Parts: sequence; structure tokens; C-alpha cells
Amino acid sequence: MALERRVSVRDFLPDPVEDALVTRVLKAACRAPTSDNLQAYSFVVVRDAGTRRRLGELAGHQRHVVEAPVFIAVCADLHRVAKACERHGRTLAGETLEMGLVATIDASLAGMAASLTAESLGLGSVMIGGVRNAPLEVAALLGLPQQVFVAFGLCLGWPARRPPQKPRLPEAALIFQERYEPERIPAAVAEHDRALATHYKSLAKATSEASWTERIAERFSRSPRAHLRASLRALGFDFS
Ligand SMILES: Cc1cc2nc3c(=O)[nH]c(=O)nc-3n(C[C@H](O)[C@H](O)[C@H](O)COP(=O)(O)O)c2cc1C
Repeated sequence: MALERRVSVRDFLPDPVEDALVTRVLKAACRAPTSDNLQAYSFVVVRDAGTRRRLGELAGHQRHVVEAPVFIAVCADLHRVAKACERHGRTLAGETLEMGLVATIDASLAGMAASLTAESLGLGSVMIGGVRNAPLEVAALLGLPQQVFVAFGLCLGWPARRPPQKPRLPEAALIFQERYEPERIPAAVAEHDRALATHYKSLAKATSEASWTERIAERFSRSPRAHLRASLRALGFDFS
């Protein structure tokens, strides 16, 4: 099963990925389920090296965005839904938390479907949330109309190297039967801290013994991307 073997790939061969293959991946991804059949997502395929270089910068200087031959911007998209309303003399009530979530969930499902399809065909991919560093600049670069934003990107290419899989939290912390059991969490999280530290040490990467929790505490005790709500509002989404 492709999902059992999947891993994010960040090292790509320079070999091209044919248009027909990218189209096949994205057409398959369009079979993903979609809320109310709204299909509130779209893909923008970027091959142009200059655009990829700029996207890599905006995403926080991510090398793999520049090196992968294909970058797919996975967009939450209410533009067509708004147009559908207009055809019938109505106005989309799109600036609501629910519609923002609907479009973001649709985009996520379609993006994951694309990533899995790509993997099943031997391609490698990594998702790029870094594009949300600069939603307005990214939207302008890709010519997005109002009511569309890039939820995340997907670097696509032939893998030069597939890294070993990263451990996941133990089953005890992720899967519950009938009722959630919060008392299981501390031991399971401590186990994951140790497993992730062992993983990083095996790759000669710097880590602490509390590998997972320490990074999370450091990174997420501050509000990430504080500008995001205002930027998304300017693009026609209201997450307040
Ligand atoms: C929505 C989303 C955004 C992500 N953004 C980035 C990113 O900007 N840069 C990056 O290198 N990896 C990114 N990743 C990949 C994660 O870091 C990766 O999935 C996670 O560390 C687990 O590793 P694995 O996918 O190899 O199992 C993102 C993943 C998701 C789901």
C-alpha cells in the first residue's frame, strides 16, 4: 500500500516530469471527495524556474521548491462557487469560517490525493506550507483571482533520495476505541520524544532527548504567521 511506504521527499533529480504524467496525477486527485460537490480547490502547476525561485524565497528560502522540476500550488478556491451563485442572481456568503474551512479541507484532500497518486507512480513529493508566509505575494505571482488562496504547495519530481520514514506517535496516542483516553498521552508522547531523538541521531542530525515536544514548545508557543488572518481576509476569506 503506497501510504504505508510514503515519506516526504526533498531531494529531486533534475529529470523532467512529463506534462501528461502531471495531468494524470492531478486528474486522479480530482476524484477526491469534496464537500457538497463544491470542488472548492484548484491546482496551479508551476514549472517556470523564475517563478519557482521566487516561491522558494517566499516560502522561507526552501531549496527543494527551487530544485523540484514541478511545483503545484494547491488552492482553496471559492471563486467558481461565487460565479455559480452569480449565474442565478445570488451572492456567495463566502466570508464565513465554515466556507473557509470547506475550501481548505477540500484543498487538503485533493492535495493529499495528488501526493499519494504521485508516490504510487514512483514520483516523490513534499508539501510546502511555507507559502502561507506570504499569501498576498504568492497570490499575485500566480495571478489568483479573489476568493482563492494557496493552502500549501506540492513539490513534485523524481526522487534523488528517499529518506527513512520518520517515526509517528505511538498508536496509543493516535487511535482510540469508542472514547478518547487522555491519560494515555503523557507516556505515549515521552515514547515518541525518545523514538524521534533516536531517528535524528541515526541521521547524524542535531536533536535533544525531548526531540518532538521541545521543538513544538519552541515553535508553537508563539503565534505562527500572525499576519495570516488579515492576508486571507484581503483575498476574500474570513477565518475570524
Ligand atoms: C500542510 C503541510 C505543510 C508542510 N510544509 C512543509 C514545508 O513548508 N517545508 C517542508 O520541507 N516540509 C513541509 N511539510 C512536510 C512535513 O514536514 C512532513 O510531512 C513531516 O515532517 C512528516 O514527515 P514525513 O512526511 O516524511 O513523514 C509539510 C507538510 C504538510 C502536511
